[in-house]
Amino acid sequence: MKHTLVLALAGAVAAVGVPSDCPAYDNYAAQSHPPVSCGKFKDPYQRPDSRCRTYAVPEVEETITKVKSQIKDPDLYRLFLNSWPNTVDTTILWRGVSDDNPDEELAFISTGDIHAMWLRDSANQLQSYKPILNITSNNSTNNIATLYRGAINLQGRYIRKFPHCNSFQPPPESKLPPHHFKRNLSKRADTVNPPYDPNVVFECKYELDSLSAFLQLSWDYYDVTKDIKFFGKFHWAEAVKTILKVANDMIQGTYTEDGSVNKSPYTWLRDANSATETVSNNGVGNPVVGNLGLVRSFFRPSDDSTIYQYFVPANMMFSRFLKACVVIMESIDKDTAAQMTKIADSISKAIDEHGIIKHPKYGDIYAFEVDGFGSSNLMVRNTHPLTIVVLANASGQDDANIPSLLSIPHLGYKSASDPVYKRTRDFVLSRSNPYFGYGPVLNSIGGPHLGPGMAWPMAVIMQTMTSNDDDEIVHGIKQLMGSTSGLGLMHESVNTHDESKWTRSWFAWANGLFGQMILDLLDRKPELLKKSYQA
Ligand SMILES: *[C@@H]1O[C@H](CO)[C@@H](O)[C@H](O)[C@H]1NC(C)=O
Ligand SMILES: *[C@@H]1O[C@H](CO)[C@@H](O)[C@H](O)[C@H]1NC(C)=O
Ligand SMILES: *[C@@H]1O[C@H](CO)[C@@H](O)[C@H](O)[C@H]1NC(C)=O
Ligand SMILES: *[C@@H]1O[C@H](CO)[C@@H](O)[C@H](O)[C@H]1NC(C)=O
Ligand SMILES: *[C@@H]1O[C@H](CO)[C@@H](O)[C@H](O)[C@H]1NC(C)=O
Repeated sequence: MKHTLVLALAGAVAAVGVPSDCPAYDNYAAQSHPPVSCGKFKDPYQRPDSRCRTYAVPEVEETITKVKSQIKDPDLYRLFLNSWPNTVDTTILWRGVSDDNPDEELAFISTGDIHAMWLRDSANQLQSYKPILNITSNNSTNNIATLYRGAINLQGRYIRKFPHCNSFQPPPESKLPPHHFKRNLSKRADTVNPPYDPNVVFECKYELDSLSAFLQLSWDYYDVTKDIKFFGKFHWAEAVKTILKVANDMIQGTYTEDGSVNKSPYTWLRDANSATETVSNNGVGNPVVGNLGLVRSFFRPSDDSTIYQYFVPANMMFSRFLKACVVIMESIDKDTAAQMTKIADSISKAIDEHGIIKHPKYGDIYAFEVDGFGSSNLMVRNTHPLTIVVLANASGQDDANIPSLLSIPHLGYKSASDPVYKRTRDFVLSRSNPYFGYGPVLNSIGGPHLGPGMAWPMAVIMQTMTSNDDDEIVHGIKQLMGSTSGLGLMHESVNTHDESKWTRSWFAWANGLFGQMILDLLDRKPELLKKSYQA
């Protein structure tokens, strides 16, 4: 989601039910509103006026009130107050039921400044409310559980139709207009195979983590509610079967046994002046070895193209949530449940075999991306210069988004004490990571999406969420408090030397994740929220 694109689309549509005189939130969030908090940061109050909010949930308000007495620092509380409700306040552009079945709830949840629903963003936006998810909420119309069900049903519909796509248009039931890239008309649009319907799809980048996000969302709902009946009522199992078909296709490699080239199950091309916005080899990507058990991904969670298509963090996420959802599928279709277990296990085995590389300084660490060609040469890495180059590329970096190598324990793939993870974490948070940005404002992971020198607050949040070290957590909180450019919300990226240079005034996922971090700290480290952060 590039900033230029964001500007072209800003303010295009209002949520259903929000009065038309309410200000567009991307502009609103880029300005400060009174009253300011009473600490040294003087953070503004950035929640929209209550009549302009997209969805009111009593449990959200109760939590905001409850947490007030548990956070001592007024500026830190203000950041929580602004950011945690951001998804319900601003992005629930429509809720309703399916035309096909009045019992099937639907919820269209935008990413923020772009009025499209990303599978990954919406799953994570809702995850920030997992602590208050309650299937027997007092309020039958305004609650988090209905959003989860509505998002699962709508994501499932999208996936059944266009499983290679990452972000989607409002459903026809909403009567909201679709939005299209305002790209220079003299240039052609994306060329994608299989083709898609632009009235359903906003963008069609094939990302394994987007499909994993549907499984994560499903698991999060089941994990809390144990509402197994819901999953058998509509088309959830079909969506999962569609995902398995894509995964099986994407386990195939570039070449057949006799060296002929397989037809790629998906191709992508965009006229772009950035390498990460297009895909090499006429849209099929760099060659990969097939049938290792790993699943290809053409794009990363930043929506940048991969260099090596076995993107390890998405394989971890896919394996973890495929396995988690087996228990749900067992109540619907035992054969499919068995297939899910088989694929999940073969992925994690393949990660152990092909996804761990030896870094010259950090030792055995998880690779970011691999292609399968480098891994068989691991043994001779010290004697074969060419192999060192390949391995250097393979280990290269981390993504500031989630899934990332940093987020492995957050995904639940391995614990934070896993030795390979610990070494990987040391690497990605060091200057050996080519996309680690550092400076007086923010020290954190970035990526080619916005280029060197732009660090992502989300990666600082993930660093604190995966840390048990009080000093590291306190340092992370301080950096986050000091990098909002006085706007009191989380931005997508911030210049490591200049707080006033940032991207995306309205990035709901990052806001939600900040709130999720605070709620997690209230559980794990309540004493750190009893501290003052004014010094
Ligand atoms: C449910 O919550 C909404 C939003 O706060 C409120 O307007 C409505 O009156 C509530 N309904 C009930 C039955 O409490
Ligand atoms: C739900 O109802 C109970 C009992 O009436 C009340 O104590 C509780 O605060 C209510 N919770 C919400 C979220 O309205
Ligand atoms: C869910 O809400 C009901 C009704 O307000 C309440 O009795 C119950 O304790 C809540 N459950 C959780 C886990 O908060
Ligand atoms: C659109 O692209 C063409 C060809 O690259 C270029 O000549 C033209 O200036 C562009 N127009 C705008 C408005 O950017
Ligand atoms: C790998 O890195 C080398 C130099 O470090 C570079 O020349 C080459 O293009 C890279 N390969 C890929 C596939 O990015």
